[in-house]
Amino acid sequence: MAGRKAKHLEICVRADEYEVETGSTGFDQLRFAHRSLPELNLDQIDTSTRFLDHSVPLPIFISSMTGGSAEGFRANKDLARAANQAGIPVGMGSIRILFRTDEVFEHFHLKKIAPDVPVMANIGGVQIRDLSHDALAEMVKRLEVDALVVHLNPGQELFQPEGDRDFAGIRDAIRRFCDRRAIPVIVKETGFGIRPSEIAALLDAGVRYVNVAGSGGTNWVKVEAHRMDDAQRAAAMEFDEWGLPTAVVLAACAHRFPDRVLSSGGLRNGLDVAKSIALGATMAGMALPFIRAVTADGVDGVLALVERIHTVLRSAMLLSGAATIADLQRTPLMQSAPFRDSVSELLRVDTAASGENR
Ligand SMILES: Cc1cc2nc3c(=O)[nH]c(=O)nc-3n(C[C@H](O)[C@H](O)[C@H](O)COP(=O)(O)O)c2cc1C
Repeated sequence: MAGRKAKHLEICVRADEYEVETGSTGFDQLRFAHRSLPELNLDQIDTSTRFLDHSVPLPIFISSMTGGSAEGFRANKDLARAANQAGIPVGMGSIRILFRTDEVFEHFHLKKIAPDVPVMANIGGVQIRDLSHDALAEMVKRLEVDALVVHLNPGQELFQPEGDRDFAGIRDAIRRFCDRRAIPVIVKETGFGIRPSEIAALLDAGVRYVNVAGSGGTNWVKVEAHRMDDAQRAAAMEFDEWGLPTAVVLAACAHRFPDRVLSSGGLRNGLDVAKSIALGATMAGMALPFIRAVTADGVDGVLALVERIHTVLRSAMLLSGAATIADLQRTPLMQSAPFRDSVSELLRVDTAASGENR
């Protein structure tokens, strides 16, 4: 398991050798309506918000990634240090390995390094179905985390030779774990998105936030394809365009669920963050840009990326007349006609199928 995680990390950070991103998030189909008379002073722009009982200076977080391998531990430590300095929440990779060996506990004990910000543990949907919930609740307590993130990744698993094949019973297991009220639960995808009726079902099950983690960024079937032989790779490559684009899912439902939806999947800059919030998301997360920044330039690389996002977010808020994050959430975006079509098609198909998901 540690070897696989180390290989994933290598594939994701060596942009010169491996391509891992596909499709489009849809953010390029959206524009703010520029204001030439915003009647605001830049000093008035307040990008702060609240998340998991903490005040955070801007609505971004470092999405779930590493741990378990030596390289992953190094990256985790620097990500956590940078997050604490920047005041932003930080996730970690799956803690599944801790149920086999306690040796790598420190890889995941990020709260020690980032005591001032929300720290989020991570586990797979299949594990929340199969592991003892007593053991899981005990582990998150030992890790002193602020939330447990459950990842749904059936696409990736299908293309892992050693991956899971049975995805039945996960939603009920999530509901049972939420019923314990041990810790706030966040459910995310890993790059193929979650459809509106499934978001509704997860929120109904007691999940605090659903993180869309849609398509248009890191494609995990493509990551797995780099570990395959040619014949297997050809099948995986047919999934290049698979998934629900992040911005399309947000536009379809984020405003329906105020303060319950997080944006991620293919966000690459400050404008993607600003557009996510305008579509109704509470916070916006990134994985690949942060792992590449930390691998290339350590803590400073991460801080520079956060600073650039902050500059762009503040500027976009001023130029669209939004003084606060709440204002930004009420700022309508101009949408291209194909984007509007995609949103209504998603809603049409999802409504037709929603009986199956409830
Ligand atoms: C190196 C790496 C490791 C990851 N490991 C995990 C993981 O253990 N658990 C998880 O939920 N997601 C994991 N992800 C997925 C990300 O959290 C995210 O959902 C996905 O990469 C899409 O976001 P992006 O386009 O910003 O990369 C990982 C991503 C990267 C780049």
